[in-house]
Amino acid sequence: MEFNDVYDHERVTRKFTNRKVNEKVLARIVKKAQESPSLLNSQPWRIYMVTENALSSLKREVKQQLDENVKPHEDFATTLSLNWDSYPSQNMAAVGATLPYFFHNKMDLFKDANDTMFNAQAVAYLTIPRSSPAWSVFDLGILAQSIMLLAIDEGLGVMPAHSMVAYPEIVRKYGQIPEDELVGMAIGLGYKDKLAEVNDPKFFPERLPFEKVYKLVK
Ligand SMILES: Cc1cc2nc3c(=O)[nH]c(=O)nc-3n(C[C@H](O)[C@H](O)[C@H](O)COP(=O)(O)O)c2cc1C
Repeated sequence: MEFNDVYDHERVTRKFTNRKVNEKVLARIVKKAQESPSLLNSQPWRIYMVTENALSSLKREVKQQLDENVKPHEDFATTLSLNWDSYPSQNMAAVGATLPYFFHNKMDLFKDANDTMFNAQAVAYLTIPRSSPAWSVFDLGILAQSIMLLAIDEGLGVMPAHSMVAYPEIVRKYGQIPEDELVGMAIGLGYKDKLAEVNDPKFFPERLPFEKVYKLVK
């Protein structure tokens, strides 16, 4: 695909079909994403691609936690400040206020999608060392963006979701991730279920007005 086509398709997919993703495609995506820039070429990341039986077991245990109302406890929440400044808070509040609107009061679609891990057929768990500067979180974000754009170019749908790192001990267990790494983010991958209502473009949220985020200084 042309770059702008790939970029224009970067919308999240909240329901994937049961079609598996070829292992070679997954490896190709991550191998290319490794070319992403990082501070002093530190490449702080590791990528654990969880699929098949490991992923099914992981999903089952996550569902148990949800059923038992276990409070989410992401690794980043324990290491980074959880306080938001008023600017992103207001943006999130605006989204929160309109989410039922975007979802046409079908918030159960949104919740079910998250609770079933979007039926993702592969989940890329992205980690950095437990002892990391904030720069490494920035680097990990760049890597995540590279993975998503490359995956879209391969015809896949992508689903970055912090809800999939809510129970890091389960991710560690099934992803075979060492204790000294932080489970930063997860990207669900698979083929978009075009018939699923939750994927309907009518749910795509808008962005802030350009003038609000951009300032040209001369
Ligand atoms: C770091 C990060 C975490 C996210 N976590 C979730 C999540 O847990 N559940 C979810 O449904 N969407 C999640 N999203 C998706 C955002 O809600 C979505 O990107 C945003 O609303 C804009 O929608 P769009 O990407 O389809 O344009 C996450 C996105 C990012 C970048």
